[in-house]
Parts: sequence; C-alpha cells; structure tokens
Amino acid sequence: MTELIWEGKYDEQGRRVAPPRIALPFQTVETVNESAGDRDRNLEMFASGRPTEWRNRLIWGDKKYVLPSLLEEFAGKVNLIYIDPPFDTGANFSYTASIPDDPESEGDQAATFVKEPSVIEQKAYRDTWGKNLDSYVRWTAETAALLRDLLTADGSVFVHLDWHVGRYVKAVLDEEFGRNNFVNEIIWWYYNKFQGNVNRFASDHDVIFWYRKSDTYKFHAQAEAREKPTRQIRRAWDKNKGRIVNVKGPDGKVLYQDSTHRTVDDVWRLSMLQPADQTENLRFPTQKPEALLERVVRAASDERDLVLDCFCGSGTTAAVAEKLNRRWIACDLGRFAIHTTRKRLLGIPGVKPFVVQNLGKYERQAWQVAEFGEKAEAATHSYRQFVLDLYRAQPVSSYVWLHGSRSGRMVHVGTVDAPVTRADITGMVTEFRKAVGTGKDAPSRSGVDVLGWDFAFELNETAKQDAELAGINLRLVRIPREVLEKKAVEQGDIKFFELAALRVDVKKKARSVTLTLADFIIPLDDVPEDVRRAVTHWEQWIDYWAVDWDNSDDTFHNEWQSYRTRKERTIARSTTHSYPEPGSYRVIVKVIDILGNDTTKALAVEVK
Ligand SMILES: C[S@@+](CC[C@H](N)C(=O)[O-])C[C@H]1O[C@@H](n2cnc3c(N)ncnc32)[C@H](O)[C@@H]1O
Repeated sequence: MTELIWEGKYDEQGRRVAPPRIALPFQTVETVNESAGDRDRNLEMFASGRPTEWRNRLIWGDKKYVLPSLLEEFAGKVNLIYIDPPFDTGANFSYTASIPDDPESEGDQAATFVKEPSVIEQKAYRDTWGKNLDSYVRWTAETAALLRDLLTADGSVFVHLDWHVGRYVKAVLDEEFGRNNFVNEIIWWYYNKFQGNVNRFASDHDVIFWYRKSDTYKFHAQAEAREKPTRQIRRAWDKNKGRIVNVKGPDGKVLYQDSTHRTVDDVWRLSMLQPADQTENLRFPTQKPEALLERVVRAASDERDLVLDCFCGSGTTAAVAEKLNRRWIACDLGRFAIHTTRKRLLGIPGVKPFVVQNLGKYERQAWQVAEFGEKAEAATHSYRQFVLDLYRAQPVSSYVWLHGSRSGRMVHVGTVDAPVTRADITGMVTEFRKAVGTGKDAPSRSGVDVLGWDFAFELNETAKQDAELAGINLRLVRIPREVLEKKAVEQGDIKFFELAALRVDVKKKARSVTLTLADFIIPLDDVPEDVRRAVTHWEQWIDYWAVDWDNSDDTFHNEWQSYRTRKERTIARSTTHSYPEPGSYRVIVKVIDILGNDTTKALAVEVK
C-alpha cells in the first residue's frame, strides 16, 4: 500500500515510534456552579467507594500532556471526538480582546486590541509547525493514536480541516484508524463568506473527516428544512424487489407528497458566524458555528454520551454537548480559550456543574525530576539555581528562606509542588530581619521578591501588609509556566509577572455579607502601550469576577459570578450573600482581567 512517510515516523531499527505517554494526575483548580450540598454528597460517595456523580471537565493544558493523562480513566470510554486543530499559520493563537467603557465618564470609549500569542502558544505552534509539514503530520499522527485509544468500540472521531493540510491528514487518519473505518468526507460549504479577488476559485469550504473505531458505530440521519417545500413522487423500500420504488395509489398512478425537509448528505450548507451576531459570535478568531457542531453531535452520539474536544478554542463543542445533554471534556492550551469557554458555558441557562482542571504541580514535579534528577536535595538546589538565573539574581547560601539577591533585594524561590503560604512569608520576614547588616549576603535594600508558581489564596495583600509592618517591601512574582519549556528558556522568552492587587470592601448586616470591588491595580510592565492608554478607570481591567463564599480547601468553588459579554458590557460591582448559619468563613474573590490573567483574594468573614 502507498504510505505517507514523515521524519521521526520510524526509529533506527525501523520500528514505528509511538507517541510519548506520560500520564499525570489532574488538579481541580475550580468547581463551577456546584452547590456545597452536591460537593459533600460526592465526597461521601467517593469515601464509601460508590461511583461519584459525573462532572464535565474543562482542562487547561497542551494535548500532548492532557491526552495521555486522560487515558488512565477514559481509555475506551469516549463516544465522540470532534477536533478542529490549528492548521493555519500562527494566527490561530492571537485574539481580539475588548476594553470596556470607563464607568465614570460619559460616552463610549470601548476599544479592542489584538492579544498576541503567549510564549506557550508560540511554543505549541513551533511544536506543530516547527519543521513545516513534516512536523505537522507527525504531531497529527501522535494525536490520532491517542484519540483512537480513548474512543469506545462504537466511537467516532470528526477531524475538521481545510485546503491547507486536509489531504495529508487524511492519509494519516487512514493509517491510524484503518481505511475501512473511513465513514465520510463532509464538506462544510460556508456560502456566505465574503472573499476578495483571489485569482482562483474562492475557497468556500472546510472538510471534516469522519472515522469510526470499528464497523459498529452510531449514526442518526439528520434532516434539514428546505427553503421552500417541493412536490415529490412518494418513494418507499420494496422488500421483495430489494430496492426503492415509486408508491402507487389504488388507481395505479404514482402518488405525490409535499416535502418540507430533506435528509442531510455530506455537503453541509451552513452559514459562517456573522460579525454582527452578538449572541453567538465571541470574537474568537477560529470559532465555529454551533449549528455545525450540533449536526456532528446529533449524528454520532446519544444523550449522556461522552464528547471530547482537545482543541476547544471558544468552547463550541462543549456548549453544544451541554445543550444536547451529552457529557463533555474540553481542553485547550490557551489561557484565553479556557476563559472564553468558561464564560460561554456559564451563559447557558441551567448549565450543569463542571470543573476546571490543569496538570499544575504534577507537570512541574515531572519536569523537576527530568531536569534535575531524583535526589531531592540536589534537585531542589539545582532547580533554585536555574530559576534564579532566569530571574537574573545571584544565589546566596547563608539562609533557609532567602535564596538569592537581585539589585540589593532578596529573592525567595517557591517550590514546584506547593503554593507560597503565609507561613513561608513569616519565615522570610524573620530571616530577613536577622540577616540585615550581617555580611556579604546581607540585604542592602529592604525588599524581598517572592517567586512562586502558585500563591495561597490569602497571600496577595495580607502577607504584603504583614511584611510592610516589619518594614519590608514584598513583591509577589509569578514564575511563568514557560520555564518548563526548553526552547522558551533557550530563546530568553521568559517573563516574570508581578501579581495584580485587588481591594474588596466588606459590609455585614446580620448574616448577610456584601462584597464591593474597590480597586484593582495591574502591574503595567507587560501591558501593551495602547491598552495602557485606553484604560482610564481600574474597573475597565476587570472582565470577570467570581466568589467562593465558604472556602475550606485549595480549590476555588465558584458560587457567584459577574462578567462582561459582547452584549452586556457592564459588570456588577457588588454582590450579597446570606449565610444560613453563624460562623467564621473564608471568602475567596477571583478576578480575571481583560488580558486573561487571574488574581485571587481571601477575606475572613464572621457572621453572628
Ligand atoms: C482552530 S482553534 C479551535 C476553535 C474551536 N473549534 C471553536 O469553535 O472555537 C484551535 C485551538 O487549538 C488550541 N491548541 C493549539 N495547539 C494546542 C495544543 N497543543 N494543545 C491544546 N490546544 C491547542 C488553540 O489554542 C486554539 O484555541
């Protein structure tokens, strides 16, 4: 048989190279719309070994880590996969974000800006396209092999592409799924797309390749309304003749009928999303219409089936699966894609609870072992050295909590597997005070830069204030995930971001608590100049905020939220909650800004 060969397909012994399959556990960083009662019930079921209630999942991560990690729980369990992988140029990763109006000045100042791809996104793009078609085909083959293993025996995969790479990927899918398992090449004809003069026939269609895992698979024929009813000869299956025949009346004449619908074939004439459509169009550049996904999901799955999309973008597949009562798993490596999908799902009336997950500390632990070895002490030392280097700080060795210095300020490097906590800050402050004036490693300025992957909820301002009281200026700086990417490090693409600061006013009346956003300050170093100029009021930075009224663990339980949409450009500034019982509660407020970054703040609230 003719075969498509790409670099890296076979090893030196001529054996087919399998995709890397490192399975890491998922971390649930947020639950959305799950009541405390539901949560407790699920925990009880888990503790007593009974099956817990299903939660749909939105996963932030690269498919190369997420798919192998899903295998342990979901091999052979996913009924339907739809993917719309990046197949264009790097444009897949930039998006348009909006700056809302200044709430305290008249008129319309709303503006948009294009958010350039993050370093992680650029890296994924290089992974995919680094060596042109060869690496793209290899990347696709690795994806297809993992997807196949996730499918149920009667499962199907739909792969959405266009003229750029469609013809190559089809050869890969033939090989991965078997040529016999090819079901359809669907043409999506977007008849209403405006095309300039391209000096050839305009490209007005995408292709969707449908493969099944085996010859038993689900198919529900779909019908679509005709533009106007037509008169047709009535036809029916004749068992005796084994073919379709014209139906005749008792007088022997053929019968006619008015037909308002037709059975959908493999050319789908569905409108492109229109720029003016403020309800569905989320301004996500590669967003597909829900009508398209609705067809895929209805045709090849049943209610309660599990649907997966590992390039979810704006969340079209998840939204359609949710509306059609399917279970879903959606994944994307873009921060903004995850945020857009979360908001989109929240906008669906009666959306079922879902969780937001990542591979967080497990991915970092695996990276630390791979880079710096298994021996804990030596690995921790080399890891700190590495991060200090990237932060352009010099290591110091005389302290436990203070690991380096930069421009006279001391530097602490948080571990890969735990957030920086208030106890860590107390340790640093105590050590800092003892260290002043003690010799060559002593601080020359009263400041500590605390570098961390994660920060405990309560840390952002409380710890800063504690340190200020001790006369120390504290800067909390996030270690970016790009540090895990060799290429990004080699290219000097690493940027450390200081955390934003949020002020929330709390008012209590009996058991009722009202929170009001009072201020939000973003460190402006990395904000594009035009965005900086367009923002005149702190509230314009805020795209979304959410509250967990009674937090007792590391997961943010999202119980209330307010956010901007294309139609609704304002957000609530206050929210009130009534506690059923008196007590001391830890309230977490989470803000996501228009650049897609999140900031959390913990508040202690006591109600009598
Ligand atoms: C063409 S878009 C999908 C659009 C989506 N179908 C929709 O309707 O909004 C491709 C998505 O794949 C994501 N992506 C690219 N490489 C990825 C990777 N290696 N792992 C996970 N997601 C990736 C991009 O961030 C982008 O959101």
